Amino acid sequence: MSNYHIKNLEEYFQVYRKSVRDPESFWEEIAEENFMWRKRWNNVLEYDLAKPEVSWYKGAKLNITENCIDRHIYTRGDKTAIIFEPNDPSEAAEHITFKELHERVCRFANVLLEQGIKKGDRVCIYLPMIPELAVSLLACARIGAIHSVVFAGFSATALATRINDSDCKMIITSDGSYRGNKTIDLKGIVDEALENCEGVKTVLVAKRINSEICMNPNRDKWLQPLLDEAYHDCVAVVMDAEDPLFILYTSGSTGKPKGMVHTTAGYMVYTAYTFKNVFQYRENDVYWCTADIGWITGHSYIVYGPLANGATTLMFEGVPSYPDFGRFWQVVEKHKVNQFYTAPTAIRALAKERLDFSENYDLSSLKVLGSVGEPINEEAWHWYDENIGKRKCPIVDTWWQTETGGIMISPIPYSTPTIPTYATLPLPGIQPALLDENGEELKGNLVSGRLCIKYPWPGMARTIWGNHERYRETYFSTFENKYFTGDGALRDSTGYYRITGRVDDVIIVSGHNLGTAPIEDAINEHPAVAESAIVGFPHYVKGNALYGFVILKEVGESRLHENLRKEINQIITEHIGPIAKLDKIQFTTGLPKTRSGKIMRRILRKIAERDTANLGDITTLLNPEVVQEIIEGAV
Ligand code: WTA
Repeated sequence: MSNYHIKNLEEYFQVYRKSVRDPESFWEEIAEENFMWRKRWNNVLEYDLAKPEVSWYKGAKLNITENCIDRHIYTRGDKTAIIFEPNDPSEAAEHITFKELHERVCRFANVLLEQGIKKGDRVCIYLPMIPELAVSLLACARIGAIHSVVFAGFSATALATRINDSDCKMIITSDGSYRGNKTIDLKGIVDEALENCEGVKTVLVAKRINSEICMNPNRDKWLQPLLDEAYHDCVAVVMDAEDPLFILYTSGSTGKPKGMVHTTAGYMVYTAYTFKNVFQYRENDVYWCTADIGWITGHSYIVYGPLANGATTLMFEGVPSYPDFGRFWQVVEKHKVNQFYTAPTAIRALAKERLDFSENYDLSSLKVLGSVGEPINEEAWHWYDENIGKRKCPIVDTWWQTETGGIMISPIPYSTPTIPTYATLPLPGIQPALLDENGEELKGNLVSGRLCIKYPWPGMARTIWGNHERYRETYFSTFENKYFTGDGALRDSTGYYRITGRVDDVIIVSGHNLGTAPIEDAINEHPAVAESAIVGFPHYVKGNALYGFVILKEVGESRLHENLRKEINQIITEHIGPIAKLDKIQFTTGLPKTRSGKIMRRILRKIAERDTANLGDITTLLNPEVVQEIIEGAV
């Protein structure tokens, strides 16, 4: 039996027990047998969760791209590493073999070097889902530059904040992007962002939509001519196990976004291991994750995890609704996809449409279906199981976070029996705990509490860029010596976990984490707004939608309110991006507050959910009278 590839439930339990009994030898064996190291580690794990300081495979030397590319050239050089499926189905798909990927990454890495990028420099990547995106991540990793990918749906302001937070020297973008039947002027957004980013000296521009764009001759360079001239081979820089590999921003419930830092060796081992087991990838399978590489799911399960296993990974540029709602299934048929990984919000959007959109395609290649990003509701689970998996594909409901680097709790297909809405069991090496509000661990089954992890795992983020104290405070101060996830969960009578949702002020909308504070800050920038509060309310497709309660400086006339609503959403779009727009905006003269001045979001949430029968005790509020006004004015 190999610990690296679990094949049945009995093996899972054996491997799990071993991983808890002796985590170090467990992770040592996996690292030893499945990766290419330039130098072996001195110590598998050193940690102190109070600080917190964690290092895996200390002393080891490696380059992740040698593991994702070079070593496969000898055994599977002509195998397709990346399939690129464009937005427009009439445009040909591209198949990039491991040999070709090697050459493209090396050329790109040489371009970075020629432009003065060196080990440790931060490079911001703001690209659509085109091959250059995956190649640019790997090119950074090749030379030890730290990539910071910003999802290409974020606004110029959000982009600038992220560029400045990590002092990026360069940004890689494109002349635009396709999204369904629309084009988006990415370079224009970059130009606007860079008005406030003095540290960026170079902008590399990939050509995608052939639009006329302004190039600043001192700063902007077309990528392709540089690639054409660059040498086709590039020696990989030897990295320390704990050298940062990338920064990826995630929203916090307060303040500015958190630049989560992932390091090299542990992240590589963990994403590769979890990819292999959660998707049960076999040598000639075609694997497709529909996420954008701008999110952690894309980093770990489009790029690093699959490529470290020599897998064929599909990158899709388009959207599920273009040219029609059959697009995902047409791609599955066309490329004979075996593992398909998507988000509940996409499943719900498709489940609303006619069934023939999926019935028209041959989905018989599918073996495993995955879900990630938010709890999957029972109805969506069954729709996915019946119409896509035809009841023969296990559904892996994978729970994890940007901070965890890889999947933490998930069924292992063909091993763990699945139950709708349950992420089921922890993967080997993961030790979850449920805690009550006093920090007591709830032992046994049939309990629910705050989800923590009580032992380090290789894929965990090591810090927040430039703010280790915030890292400690956010994740390691709520409960002593435990990583606190911010999620609530229950453990059922058989030990299965079900994630019940966030217990902080993060709201997940269409699978994207949004902190309430940054949205409120944006709204409060509007000159007419005095104060605001955002809560989530259930939405059939998005999971949650945003409801804003806004106090205006002057009450104003109601006919102006429609305009104000538009302006408020406009401000949010400018500060964050269209994903954070509010579905409902209610103007009110006050917000329910405690005597210490804290907004009682619980009450606002109930009102937004239209569940006003059980508001609980409101007499302790500073201003209980405002509650009735808000109930009556609900939109
Ligand atoms: C939520 C995405 C329930 C959760 C990989 C978590 C989930 C947050 C699931 C992290 C799931 C993710 N079931 N909830 N299977 N997967 N979540 O950082 O609240 O974008 O804390 O990482 O998404 O979102 P993030």
